[in-house]
Amino acid sequence: MTQSVLVLRQFAESGITDVVLTPHVSAGELAFDKEDALERRDVAFTLLSREAPEKPRLHLGFEIMLDVPLVASILDDRRFSLAGSRYYLVEFPISVFEDDATSLLEGLVEGDAVPLVAHVERYRNCGVKSVAQWKQLGAKVQVDATTLTRSSERGHVARQLLGAGLVDVVAADNHGDDRVLGNAVQFLSNHESEHITRSLTEGNPRAVLEDVDMNPVPAVAFREGLWSRIKHYMGS
Ligand SMILES: [Fe+2]
Repeated sequence: MTQSVLVLRQFAESGITDVVLTPHVSAGELAFDKEDALERRDVAFTLLSREAPEKPRLHLGFEIMLDVPLVASILDDRRFSLAGSRYYLVEFPISVFEDDATSLLEGLVEGDAVPLVAHVERYRNCGVKSVAQWKQLGAKVQVDATTLTRSSERGHVARQLLGAGLVDVVAADNHGDDRVLGNAVQFLSNHESEHITRSLTEGNPRAVLEDVDMNPVPAVAFREGLWSRIKHYMGS
């Protein structure tokens, strides 16, 4: 049994009903040969389908690295979106500057396509103000389920964003490892926010699968522990 099958079984056992498979592709590659990216994904998916368990349901997507502006034709082609929906999962190079990220996103909000920005807590030159600006443009925002629980700088930023009501989706950036959505559900349940947890991990992800509007998510009132705050101020 491959590692992917093992992970999918564990997902199903933990209550995960649907998984969108999002192999990495860059906007530069798509500009060069978008059909090649689809072919590579199809081959990988065919292999996985042969041994994948019945549950969870599998859907296709991409995580598109915006190394260059995305060519407009991709936004008219739902084979590149999440599960054929209006939502396109995008990421930036880690050291992207706010203005560059904002102008890349501006090019993605034409028509009915909606960019969903992956793991926004990672971009060290962008913070709450940047993300608020991206939301104003019409982008949606995802943070990573495991990072959210950590006392690292990224974990702190993820909680700041949730505390500011700027996050639409929490998702597990699972690469065949132990990063699972349950980490975030468990963590958020310690902060008395069950309805918010559901919006982030069930309601808005379902909006992607159903290709409908996401609902706004209220701010989470975090109670940061003293140790976490000390570590943050010490820069660790
Ligand atoms: Fe990523």
